[in-house]
Amino acid sequence: MRDIRSLDARDRLIVALDLPTVEAAEAMVRRIGPAANFYKIGLQLLFAGGIDLVRRLVGEGHQVFIDAKFLDIPETVRKAVESVARLGATFLTLHADPRTCRAAIEGRGDSALQLLFVTVLTSIDDADLEREGYARCLSELVIDRTDIVLASGGDGIVAAGTEAAAIRARAGDRLVIVTPGIRPAGSAAQDQKRVATPAGAIAAGADYLVVGRPITAAADPAAAAAAIVDEIRAAA
Ligand code: C5P
Repeated sequence: MRDIRSLDARDRLIVALDLPTVEAAEAMVRRIGPAANFYKIGLQLLFAGGIDLVRRLVGEGHQVFIDAKFLDIPETVRKAVESVARLGATFLTLHADPRTCRAAIEGRGDSALQLLFVTVLTSIDDADLEREGYARCLSELVIDRTDIVLASGGDGIVAAGTEAAAIRARAGDRLVIVTPGIRPAGSAAQDQKRVATPAGAIAAGADYLVVGRPITAAADPAAAAAAIVDEIRAAA
């Protein structure tokens, strides 16, 4: 059950460290300083020394989101989640497949690791789904996958701002909603197809926002992070 009301706006911002090296990621964390405290480490960095970086950031008091988007046979998922649970991270992502959900919950055991499930990647739109042979449209697929997570007892969903309201309406307070594809007003969407502003995503029901390039590619990442935190605070 989420208790977002007790969180400071700063703790609702997760900065995506999509950077090529641990050195670049650590330099970015230093540049951002106290403007943010929660960092997401994805596949690029995980396979470039990022697992030790997870331990270091956790040891320094940061919260860490491991974005590995697991999808595999149940036994492999269960054991992989057991290993991740020992790192001290706050969030881990997996795909919202029923067997993956159940195996991950077993693997997490009684650790504090929270399991977030990806419904449909924010880089995908209805035309992509049609090309890939899906009979369901994107909004239906997102709700189907939300129901899978609710039925298996997962902690939360990673969802675009454009779907956050529908997920909140379906799940109430039973799921944490984490929203990537955030673009402050006036910034470029780049490869994201379903974007929302920070205020728009919060108003739609997002608990946490994941922001990468609008912060890490900014001339002043600390100022960009602080502006987003201000927008979260004003919208909350
Ligand atoms: O740079 P940008 O703000 O677009 O980064 C978004 C981050 O969120 C990336 O690390 C991307 O992998 C991640 N993400 C996403 N869509 C999802 C799940 C994760 O964009 N559904």
